[in-house]
Amino acid sequence: MSNRTFTIIKPDSVRKGNFGKIITKLEAEGFRVRGLKKLHLSQKQAESFYGVHRERQFFKDLVKYMTSGPVYVAALEREDAVPHLRKVMGATDPAKADAGTIRKDFGESIEQNAIHGSDSDDNAKAEISFFFAESELV
Ligand code: CMP
Repeated sequence: MSNRTFTIIKPDSVRKGNFGKIITKLEAEGFRVRGLKKLHLSQKQAESFYGVHRERQFFKDLVKYMTSGPVYVAALEREDAVPHLRKVMGATDPAKADAGTIRKDFGESIEQNAIHGSDSDDNAKAEISFFFAESELV
């Protein structure tokens, strides 16, 4: 089990001023921020990042939403980082997420769900290197 994962604090969270609250929650859960950037994703970046969902009916709207405003991307470190972040985020659909999870507290809908987290160690590695050089992880 790797000790790194990757997150995006999504446009709805940044727009509503929830970035600080979400980072505070992640730090309280024992995550250390190794890399952090504020970005406005280009259409190309969003399409490439979410390439596995290209054939899904929600893909076009997802790209539109993810490019609708700035996001924060971060590389996080903690023991069992991938499964722990997924637990703290809650279910994809905020309506189905457990009480106290980030998506329950801050998400609006299955699309505008506040935060992304890697779903496997391999994807965590790929997603971190999509946005960060190894020298930017400190
Ligand atoms: P994320 O964990 O970033 O991975 C893919 C994203 O697609 C997901 O969060 C949601 O933002 C979005 N998504 C997943 N399922 C649906 C759906 N059924 N309808 C709309 N958006 C979705």
